[in-house]
Amino acid sequence: MIAKCAISGAVFVSVLLAQAGAPAGLRCEYLTDPVGIDVPQPRFSWVLAHSARGQKQTAYQVLVSLQPDAPDGGQWDSGKVASGESVNVAYAGKALATGRTYYWKVRYWDSGDAASPYSAAARFDTGLLESADWHAQWIGGANQFRKEFTLPGRLLRARAYVAGLGYYELRINGRKVGDHLLDPAWTTYDKRVLYAVYDITGRLRPGPNAVGVMLGEGWFKSRALRLRIHVEMEGGQSVDVATDTSWKSMPGPIRSDSVYNGEVYDARLETPGWDRPGFDDAPWRPARAIEGPKGVLSAQMMPPIRVTDTLAPVKMTAPRPGVYVYDFGQNIAGVVELRVRGPRGARVVLRHAELLYPDGALNVENLRGAKATDIYFLRGGGGEEVYQPRFTYHGFRYVELTGYPGSPKFDTLRARVAHTGVRSTGGFASSKQILNQIQSNIVWGIQDNLYSVPTDCDQRDERMGWMADAHLYAETAMLNFDMPAFYTNFLRDIHDVQAADGTVTDTVPHRYGSRPADPAWGLAYPLLTWYMYEYYGDRRILEQHYDGVKAWTDYLRGRSRGGILEYSYYGDWVPIDRTPGSLVSTFCYYWSADLVSRMAGILGKTADAESYRKLAGTVKDAFNAKFWNAETGKYATGSQSAQILPLFLDMAPGARRGQVLGALRDDLVYTHDTHLTTGILGTKYLFPLLTSTGNSDLAYELATQTTYPSWGYMVENGATTLWELWQNKTGPSMNSHNHPMFGSLGAWFYNALAGINPDPEKPGFARVIIAPRVVRDLKWASGSLDTIRGRVASSWNRTDGGLRLEAVIPTGSEAEIRIPELGLASVELRESGRVVWKDGKYQSGTAGIAGAREQGGALVLQAGSGDYVFELTGE
Ligand code: BGC
Repeated sequence: MIAKCAISGAVFVSVLLAQAGAPAGLRCEYLTDPVGIDVPQPRFSWVLAHSARGQKQTAYQVLVSLQPDAPDGGQWDSGKVASGESVNVAYAGKALATGRTYYWKVRYWDSGDAASPYSAAARFDTGLLESADWHAQWIGGANQFRKEFTLPGRLLRARAYVAGLGYYELRINGRKVGDHLLDPAWTTYDKRVLYAVYDITGRLRPGPNAVGVMLGEGWFKSRALRLRIHVEMEGGQSVDVATDTSWKSMPGPIRSDSVYNGEVYDARLETPGWDRPGFDDAPWRPARAIEGPKGVLSAQMMPPIRVTDTLAPVKMTAPRPGVYVYDFGQNIAGVVELRVRGPRGARVVLRHAELLYPDGALNVENLRGAKATDIYFLRGGGGEEVYQPRFTYHGFRYVELTGYPGSPKFDTLRARVAHTGVRSTGGFASSKQILNQIQSNIVWGIQDNLYSVPTDCDQRDERMGWMADAHLYAETAMLNFDMPAFYTNFLRDIHDVQAADGTVTDTVPHRYGSRPADPAWGLAYPLLTWYMYEYYGDRRILEQHYDGVKAWTDYLRGRSRGGILEYSYYGDWVPIDRTPGSLVSTFCYYWSADLVSRMAGILGKTADAESYRKLAGTVKDAFNAKFWNAETGKYATGSQSAQILPLFLDMAPGARRGQVLGALRDDLVYTHDTHLTTGILGTKYLFPLLTSTGNSDLAYELATQTTYPSWGYMVENGATTLWELWQNKTGPSMNSHNHPMFGSLGAWFYNALAGINPDPEKPGFARVIIAPRVVRDLKWASGSLDTIRGRVASSWNRTDGGLRLEAVIPTGSEAEIRIPELGLASVELRESGRVVWKDGKYQSGTAGIAGAREQGGALVLQAGSGDYVFELTGE
């Protein structure tokens, strides 16, 4: 290297830079430094870094230790493992102990077998691995509990394990612990209750300490608390504090709380100092031991619901004297924070709504039974009082304030945006403003509906984990947010409702709707399992849910007659033009069988792979025999969805495909003047179908349509999230204005416009397909996504002579990059100035590019990892 250096500085630099960087972005079970992991073999993932293109990991070494910074592999030293896998590598060391902190780090070897430096150490804490580890009783009855305890010296480490139903707030020595809201996640409580773990080392001190817990009803509709604090002291002793009847309880200032109706908080009932040591709790009663929920306790291994943003109002009006209406400019989920000064006992009322009447008054008709009203009684005494409800949330853009003592100001209210705190993983933008607004509506709509389960809506008396809604917006969610821990949890929720006969339910946890689920709702079970594999390469999820997915499919088989599944409740829900329910159900049955077959193939269950492939074939034939109408040359009634569904899954016999597609196009373009008439299912699959059949321009026209029915029509009518219905309704009927199910379109922005696609053959973005569609008047589009393997990005813009495309492929991944030739002749392609394609031929020599060919009007490149800048020119 020194010799080269002497010859040329440039060579020296490139040799020096061509290095494997330390792995970054370390995760355990998809989480960063999680506190509370209770799986026996947690899995590790890391992101590779390399300065050179086309680099892969050829081997890795993981060290796991009880020592900070993991100086050794005392718990596990994987040794040098020859493997390209940097995602979900399972721990295989000594059995993990309960309530311990483990440190880990990793290094890798690149394509040239050069070792990277070790990563910085990451950590994870185990939860309470056995139920016997709790040593704590369930207590209940009241909504406020306290306990004092003394630490005999200096402490080294302290953890709190909290299961508090329906919701809890944990307080230590006068302050709230952590940032969780509406915790724990909603589960089927007689199957499973989730607990959170907090590192409270910094919150305790030698001598007296106090712990206080407030409880809300949440979805549990009652109150129950099980808590253990474990403190390790200097010198090796430990101190344990656990819930039992020595705790004291007293009704607190929350007079009532309800997810739908809101919270009533009476500050006159506060007992200052109750959560600090030295408080006189003589009037408090001993806590009552209760039986507690039946479910097993599991660690909550996903981000909690938390405040992610604070919004100031954009407008304040007074439609009537003493009635103030605040407009936050955006439909959100969360609560407001109130600031007020006034006499003791003054009663301030906050009502929430998505809509206003023309006179500016609040329109709450579409909330149906949900009161969405928070009431605050002032403490008084002259100081400023700040109130933010704890155990409720609302879906709203507008808040009505009444009973305010004096004249409220603009800053009297601030909105706290809250939802399951999944990280944003990138974004999508384009030269078309309407698409950007739709993208914003979709992103807001989805995040407003991540409330520990994927909900249908956030405002009315529902907010359920409706399963169709869940699978319809899952891919869009995965392209915009860091979702794997969330869906891992939700899949377990689905498994928890599954009965011995294989049935799952319309909503999970099951409150609304039926058992068995509508087949299009139950499809969430196979599909979400599959998406976890496709987007994150998660094989363990396939293993864990294979039997469940198969049992659900077998249930459908038992209900079918001659390959046709008749039963259906909702089908292609909320369409403009209806599609027979049996067609939709049979389509879902076919897909479920097909997915079982694929999963079986991946898991090496060859007999199942074959028998479910055959089953799918039988269902397909029955579908065609029953629903094909030779007279009209269309499926069933001729509705758009009735054509879309069989085309999307390639169920139509080859010779018929063109005819059906033509009929669909005619219906979209001519019969409906470039409008769709589809319900939630047809809508989702229409876009990828049009794209894969060379009709991206039409898909774009539909996506940018602004007249009824369309997303643009919602935007034109003031929507800042997605509506439940294509129609603009505001009355007392079913018409949520924040319903993310039509957000399926958002996946198409990434897949087709930016052109970012996972390849299920090498899942988890180990192989990326970059295939942007340069459509109509679109001048540029740009998407980026922090995948489990690192950043993938694709941005293009039209240039005078052609197209410029920037693509980013993470180290360790490979890509197929399809660059549209835009119908140009004499096409030439350069990457950072180097010719890649010229005179109809691939020109080798560009780092990271292994080959190129011309196919279907595009240049198709085989690429390795790296950042690329392509320029396409032609005549
Ligand atoms: C929900 C939907 C759900 C549907 C089932 C509605 O009340 O809000 O989104 O999927 O019922 O038909």
